[in-house]
Amino acid sequence: MKQILHIISSPRKDQSFSLGLSKAIIRKLVCSDEVFKIVERDLTISEPPMLSDHQISAFYKKADERSEDEKRSLVYSDIVINEIQNSSIIVIGIAMYNLSVSAALKAWIDQIVRVNVSFKWNVDGTKEGLLSGKKVYLAIASGRVHSVKNYEMEFIESYLKLILGSLGINEITTIRVEGTAKKNINNINFNQFVNSNTHL
Ligand SMILES: Cc1cc2nc3c(=O)[nH]c(=O)nc-3n(C[C@H](O)[C@H](O)[C@H](O)COP(=O)(O)O)c2cc1C
Repeated sequence: MKQILHIISSPRKDQSFSLGLSKAIIRKLVCSDEVFKIVERDLTISEPPMLSDHQISAFYKKADERSEDEKRSLVYSDIVINEIQNSSIIVIGIAMYNLSVSAALKAWIDQIVRVNVSFKWNVDGTKEGLLSGKKVYLAIASGRVHSVKNYEMEFIESYLKLILGSLGINEITTIRVEGTAKKNINNINFNQFVNSNTHL
């Protein structure tokens, strides 16, 4: 059975546009003949740890060289990388904060980008992603409109494409709900956004 990993990064629950949109993407995906298992990781309920001194040391050591503190510091990272490894589709709900992703989503990224686990350096100096073969959907909500104007203020899509690409994940589709500052969530038909996207 294929697994869909749903990453939630807005704390606003039923008032969250990125959550509404990411849920609609998943609803559309599960409409196919395939049976999916859905795994949810809400980064606002169990917040990812910040990178620590122990964790950074542990990243660069072999398993049998790590201290007990270093081993403990890798537990969360192991869990979230394993969730990605076990998934064929990842749907990331993203609230734009101050032109970027939330601190919680950035902290999750810092936990999944890990040398010799999610990527490696080859002897010729090239970087190789180790999490290939997955599709990602970015469900981005922003208070302003960034796709047709203000695009110079939009870093989220290019950033996530680069960082996920470095892990070998290059099949990435972006769906946006924009101008949310002037929208009432109760009047939004998220299925409509999703249905008009030909990549789904
Ligand atoms: C702290 C904060 C910072 C924000 N910064 C921006 C911003 O830089 N650009 C923008 O277009 N909207 C910004 N917004 C508006 C959010 O992107 C918008 O409310 C969006 O719908 C949030 O996603 P959510 O509905 O899933 O919570 C910001 C909102 C908050 C609370």
